[in-house]
Amino acid sequence: MNAWKRTHYCGALRAGDAGADVCLLGWVHKTRDMGHLVFVDVRDREGLAQVVFRSETAGLMEEAKKLRGEFVIGVRGKVRRREAVNKDIPTGEVEVEAADLKIFAASKVPPFAIADPPQASEELRLKYRYLDLRRPKMQRLMRLRHDAALAARNYMSRNGFLEIETPILANPTPEGARDYLVPSRMYKGRFYALPQSPQQFKQTLMISGFDRYFQIVRCFRDEDLRADRQPEFTQIDIEMSFIDREEFFDLNEGLMEALFALTGRTLARPFPRLTYREAMDKYGSDKPDLRVPLEMRDLTEIGKGLSSEMLKAVFAAGGELKGLLVPGAGSLSRAQLDKLGDKARSLGAKGLVWIKRQDGWKAGLKLAEAEYERIWAGLGGGAADLALLIADKRDVALKALGEIRRTWPVDESLKKGTLSFAWVTDFPLFEWSEEERRYVSMHHPFTSPVEEDLPLLESEPGRVRAKAYDMILNGVEVGGGSIRIHEMNVQRRIFKALGLSDAETEAKFGYFLEALSFGAPPHGGIAFGFDRLVMLLAGEESIREVIPFPKTTSAMDLMTNSPSEVDERQLADLGLKLK
Ligand code: AMO
Repeated sequence: MNAWKRTHYCGALRAGDAGADVCLLGWVHKTRDMGHLVFVDVRDREGLAQVVFRSETAGLMEEAKKLRGEFVIGVRGKVRRREAVNKDIPTGEVEVEAADLKIFAASKVPPFAIADPPQASEELRLKYRYLDLRRPKMQRLMRLRHDAALAARNYMSRNGFLEIETPILANPTPEGARDYLVPSRMYKGRFYALPQSPQQFKQTLMISGFDRYFQIVRCFRDEDLRADRQPEFTQIDIEMSFIDREEFFDLNEGLMEALFALTGRTLARPFPRLTYREAMDKYGSDKPDLRVPLEMRDLTEIGKGLSSEMLKAVFAAGGELKGLLVPGAGSLSRAQLDKLGDKARSLGAKGLVWIKRQDGWKAGLKLAEAEYERIWAGLGGGAADLALLIADKRDVALKALGEIRRTWPVDESLKKGTLSFAWVTDFPLFEWSEEERRYVSMHHPFTSPVEEDLPLLESEPGRVRAKAYDMILNGVEVGGGSIRIHEMNVQRRIFKALGLSDAETEAKFGYFLEALSFGAPPHGGIAFGFDRLVMLLAGEESIREVIPFPKTTSAMDLMTNSPSEVDERQLADLGLKLK
């Protein structure tokens, strides 16, 4: 190999290299055989360079004519300025006049062209991920991921945080998803759980006195997958003792600044804040996309003064009336409005009322003129506007109208150029789970309640607010965290409120409760979804694009074909039998 030592990456050649003797190592991207000349584009991780073979050197020409796409080659030669400059590629001013060629490996014809944009289905791309990753764009994305991890590490370290590793073979951590379990061979019938997050370990590290911890860490959750969810994903996990929430928010905003500087973006700080309640009231979502310039309003009081029987029935059942004004949308056709109605119904609402003011009032609900006026004034409507109303149970109305808001078509170019960060705070501590018929933690059970709500813990758990916060960006939850409980007794009360018996608490969290009784400092933290952040940095729509070897939405790795079956012996070793 020594005779073939790389002098330059293909993608690094520039006009200034003219005259240099170089050795390039890479893959054949494309060949053009002109008879007496053979042009070969050679590709490596930095880009493409054009190499030219001439018929004057007969043996060499013969070899060059054997080249096919994705062969691995070495080329030695002299860099020359090109006559016809190719402005499309950074190396387009030069080419390499080949003097020597080595074929290291031939290649089968790949199942798809290694080119951007990809021409194959995602399924085929994932099956041949090693080829898909050869695409220049994927090479750029993996580099961006590297740069982002490095920037995060440097930033955290500069701010006094130590990166400390925590176990992957761990115990179940309740983050709300199912666990991936690992059977123990030594202790048959016992299991490790892959961590849904290092939550308990990082809190334990605070008790151990590490003060400021972070980790870029893999987490595992067996949950339903979507474009921004994977069964294994990476967090930038952070915990801090003697935390001051404002200082902590500032620190995290600084981290975002350090990351987005990689793509030349500057951020407006401090990020806006809204409480969970405000977010739900105005946007019907706890992760609103603030680039969409529409806000909902509560019209319940106005609604209660109206003559409509439908509204009366809704209010009698404890429902509310929510309204959304869409400026300039008064021209929507009946068919378009009907479609919106269908959408609202598909989102669980009983219906959608529209009102517009064009040559008199037009509306999907019959009311007196003065009544339309009152609604219109409540929403601040103008002549060309459209009002959309949903009267229903509060949650249903907010969710359905919020989704109509979220998906309202707005200028895509405006959306693309904007980074809309915000903090959402004061989440409820618990939410009611219909499925489990009990309260469950909205975040996780280590989140501190707001002190003044503590007396409600046993009597009205649904009203207790948490010292929890999420960071959102363009409608995506990029991070979530909280101030933690650092008093054992409060922690015990939470487990009780969650319906855990003393025995269960002891079995699952005994060590942790005991740790809290050995001098636990006040502490708190956050975890960012690293894949989501890189996705947003790159302007991609799916986290699969920025994960080198992702799973499909049905949790398969199509390249290695996992999960896979195991043989009987392996199961027997683990003391397992399949049903
Ligand atoms: P949480 O569960 O909110 O908090 O997770 C933190 C962040 O991780 C990202 N995330 C995911 N990304 C990809 N695929 C998934 N399946 C997935 N699940 C979560 C999100 C989310 O905001 N231990 C707490 C943090 C803390 O309290 O400090 C935790 O894990 O961007």
